[in-house]
Amino acid sequence: MSLVHYTDTGSGTPLVLFHGFCLDSRMWDPVRDGLSAHVRLITPDQRGFGRSPLGDDPPSLETVAADMVGLLDDLGLERAVIGGCSMGGYVAMAVLRAAPERVSGVLLVDTKAREDVPEAKANRLAVAARAEREGTAPWLADQMLPTILVNRSCDGIVREWMEAQPRESVAWAQRAMADRVDSRETLRGLDIDALVVHGEADGLMPVELAEELAELTAGKLAVLPGAGHLPPVERPEEFVAAVTPWLTAR
Ligand code: MLT
Repeated sequence: MSLVHYTDTGSGTPLVLFHGFCLDSRMWDPVRDGLSAHVRLITPDQRGFGRSPLGDDPPSLETVAADMVGLLDDLGLERAVIGGCSMGGYVAMAVLRAAPERVSGVLLVDTKAREDVPEAKANRLAVAARAEREGTAPWLADQMLPTILVNRSCDGIVREWMEAQPRESVAWAQRAMADRVDSRETLRGLDIDALVVHGEADGLMPVELAEELAELTAGKLAVLPGAGHLPPVERPEEFVAAVTPWLTAR
């Protein structure tokens, strides 16, 4: 049995959603009722975050993806719709690389297929080292919130989630993201139904990256006005409205 903690609500088509960096499964709380009214929503805490232990494997998103395939095994799910926001999208792409036969649809939220440029990798390694040295509060949220959120009424809750994550997990995840491979080849020609959702004013990932994802996956793109990098948190009703027709059509 895997040690992954998860929340499981609703019934019907299984939808497994992976959270973003420095967050945990609580980032899906604002859309939990709305989505669980239509599907079985499973939201894991990826290793090191929320209530899931980090373990002692070297940093790698392919390892996180293997955990998620293990969770499908534990739940007895041969196939599921998977999805993720930002880092969670990188995990979803790693699952598509490792076990595409387990995926019946993919939802990509404010994420991108490209690997990091060298400066971004160097910045991640610096963030990892600082997190280990100093912990993460308050500087990490201070740095991230103005870039990721447009709906600043969410600052308090997102900061609370960020500052609850252990420093060694933050460092591990930054090193894993720095090391991730380019997923454009993974997505190109993949015969899996995709939906791409993106906050119109995402300060971290411009909409062009979502357009590229939609093109690579031949998927639909929904751009949400008034949302930054975290649409499920910033515009939950609009997020549910954008995703539900796609989910229920399957
Ligand atoms: C996230 O929101 O998951 C991360 O900030 C994504 C990233 O750093 O590339």
